[in-house]
Amino acid sequence: MQAILEQLEKTARIERDDLIKLLADDSLDEAIFAAADRVRRQTVGDAVHLRGLIEFSNICKQNCCYCGLRRDNANVHRYRMKAEEIIRLAEHAKALGFQTLVLQSGEDDYFTPERLTPILKAIKALGFAITLSIGEKPPEVYAAYKAAGADRYLLRIETTNSTLYGRFHPGMSFDNRLACLAALREEGFEVGTGCLVGLPGQTLGDLADDLLFFQAIDADMIGLGPFIPNQDTPLAEAAGGNFQLARKVMALARLLRPDANIPATTAMEALHPQGRILALQSGANVIMPNVTEGDYRSWYVLYPGKVGVHDTPENSVEAIRKKIAAIGRTIGQDQGFRSKRP
Ligand code: 5AD
Ligand code: SF4
Repeated sequence: MQAILEQLEKTARIERDDLIKLLADDSLDEAIFAAADRVRRQTVGDAVHLRGLIEFSNICKQNCCYCGLRRDNANVHRYRMKAEEIIRLAEHAKALGFQTLVLQSGEDDYFTPERLTPILKAIKALGFAITLSIGEKPPEVYAAYKAAGADRYLLRIETTNSTLYGRFHPGMSFDNRLACLAALREEGFEVGTGCLVGLPGQTLGDLADDLLFFQAIDADMIGLGPFIPNQDTPLAEAAGGNFQLARKVMALARLLRPDANIPATTAMEALHPQGRILALQSGANVIMPNVTEGDYRSWYVLYPGKVGVHDTPENSVEAIRKKIAAIGRTIGQDQGFRSKRP
């Protein structure tokens, strides 16, 4: 297995069966983390890119079985920020030194291109690179957002097992998910995808397929984390993912997609107090500090144990900067686009 790992580190290639063996063998964890850390240093370097996250609406028309924002969950205080609020948060993020913003929401049909494009233009005028994470839309809507200044788009595939996908996404279609990812690419976005690790019924073979999928679509960004059961969802009683396996899938994502941008996700920290730092030391190179303010933070609850719900943006950013410095890494000084391979 050691030889297969060395080969993977050198070539970014691996057979599916071998990938499953790496996933199954706990004795290789540290070696995989170290390999991912080396590849991260060689390809994207020591800079950690910070993206300010604005959670601008928690209203969602979808009903994903794992997510606290699913439409059938009545135990959530729903909110939708006004355009002025979103822009004010962006200005604040600018003052805090951010150069990239991630605008995230549930699938909220209130935000049509007519309403969202002026907001994007105003934020663009502040000099930000903009990432959108607002779900499935028709191609012409993606095109409108690209034209208004959005640069990147995050849309996790969640799982490439279409049976599991169907089970956990009532009323949604796996094929449409794929079509959306293709449309985003077509419109010229940097495309981010990712998966949940530890969904009920998910096998190591499924995770291997997820990893090979990220490579097959040449994902520019890969965001993944453990599935964390939420008591207000149909998966309340499910076992949930474990930190170590999620970290391992993330490290393997780095080995398969050496120059991708890979965030150390908040879900990693929900399961381990040093989760994001360990992720940064096992392949990740991006952190998305939450710059949403006040009560909104505590209302945007996908899963329990989300860190920093009572923090201010200043505190979140300060704490993260210190942690990054403490492990000898630097803060990215540019907008952190994926550096294309030669
Ligand atoms: N546990 C972990 N991650 C979750 N997400 C949604 N619900 C959960 C949960 N219970 C993730 C999904 C989605 C992203 C925004 O949050 O993968 O794409
Ligand atoms: Fe809505 Fe996204 Fe949650 Fe699904 S994962 S219910 S689309 S916010």
